[in-house]
Amino acid sequence: MRGDERDRAALVTVVGIGADGWDGLSPIARRTIEDADVLRGSARQLGLVPDDVLAERVPWPSPMGTALATLPTAHPGRRVVVLASGDPMLSGVGASLIRLHGPHAVEVVPHPSSISLACARLGWAVEETAVVTVVGRALDLVTPHVTPGRRLLVLGSDGGTPAEVAALCTRLGYGDSRISALTQLGGPAEHVLTGSAADWPHGVVDPLVVTAVEAVADPGTVALPTVPGLPDDAFEDDGQLTKREVRAVTLAFLTPLPGQLLWDVGAGAGSIGIEWMRSHPSCRAVAVEGRPDRAGRIVRNATRLGVPGLHVVEGRAPEALAGLPAPDAVFVGGGATTPSLLETCWAALPVGGRLVANAVTVESEAVLAGWFARVGGELVRIGVQRAQPVGSFTGWKPGMPVTIFSVVR
Ligand SMILES: C[S@@+](CC[C@H](N)C(=O)[O-])C[C@H]1O[C@@H](n2cnc3c(N)ncnc32)[C@H](O)[C@@H]1O
Repeated sequence: MRGDERDRAALVTVVGIGADGWDGLSPIARRTIEDADVLRGSARQLGLVPDDVLAERVPWPSPMGTALATLPTAHPGRRVVVLASGDPMLSGVGASLIRLHGPHAVEVVPHPSSISLACARLGWAVEETAVVTVVGRALDLVTPHVTPGRRLLVLGSDGGTPAEVAALCTRLGYGDSRISALTQLGGPAEHVLTGSAADWPHGVVDPLVVTAVEAVADPGTVALPTVPGLPDDAFEDDGQLTKREVRAVTLAFLTPLPGQLLWDVGAGAGSIGIEWMRSHPSCRAVAVEGRPDRAGRIVRNATRLGVPGLHVVEGRAPEALAGLPAPDAVFVGGGATTPSLLETCWAALPVGGRLVANAVTVESEAVLAGWFARVGGELVRIGVQRAQPVGSFTGWKPGMPVTIFSVVR
């Protein structure tokens, strides 16, 4: 819906405003604000509107969740305009209101985002730049994006973000990375601070800041891709780790797709769920693990490898699966012989969902063969042999073969 039809239907209008305030607004954005009966925004944003605009100014309470949820009915019969910082649809209040009330209830008047402004100042193409928002989220989300040569912009909650990003890059083995803190972009007090990650000299800066990273790996740093499988030593483990080659094939069968949810059942070190989530920032996973020490290890691995959102459920399957959100794919890394485990996973999958189960024992392989006979799919066996010294020569050392059963529901 566009134009008049949309205008009549919209309950609230969200106008983006930058650090340049009223001067930087387009004629349509100004007119929208001037025609408002009620202006909602932060005290700072409301202060950017000239005094001769007569609308009632109502600052957001803190926290603002309830006010956003009740906004369409909070000012009956009055034209409500919400002020947003920069582009209302970039981690902004426009996106939040549309999530709550639907696209037809909200009209958006955009403004250049802090990302557009930062790219303009840095001379970076927006589409070649990774953007990570850590506003109200863990800084570790930045980790998967730190790869050699990558250009990255981080939106954080406060002026400590550049120093935190610098420390993280240094910990990850990217101490030579060039960090820029771009503050008050677009406004009269705009400023850029630069330095290397390992020697970041600036401490806490203006809270209106975008942190830019040009990642440079230290000599000897092993770059970790977001394509499975990572080297085994990227994970802390106690031997219960799906090894690299088998992990890569297993994830290929699981088919990680943006936005989808995996159950990693009997998660061990958590490697399958972690690599599923690293494949795309919107991928989600639940790791189900019965042993508390392993559950703790999964959390540590997920945090270190940049997917702190991995949901770890400590408990035994199938009982622990009750009440979990429906998965798009399920991996059973062990325990195929546990009564009703595979049945429960299969029943939880929607049409198009994938079930992948691995087995190394004759007994669990027999269970998988039974499922293959019953529901079809693919049954493959992988044997990996690794070159090792044999005296002064080199020979092949075979690992245990792994049987992979994979089926699309
Ligand atoms: C919740 S996000 C909202 C982004 C906003 N919608 C936009 O288009 O830029 C807030 C982040 O953007 C940064 N930010 C917003 N405006 C900025 C500006 N003019 N200069 C520097 N950083 C800015 C904040 O510091 C914070 O990290």
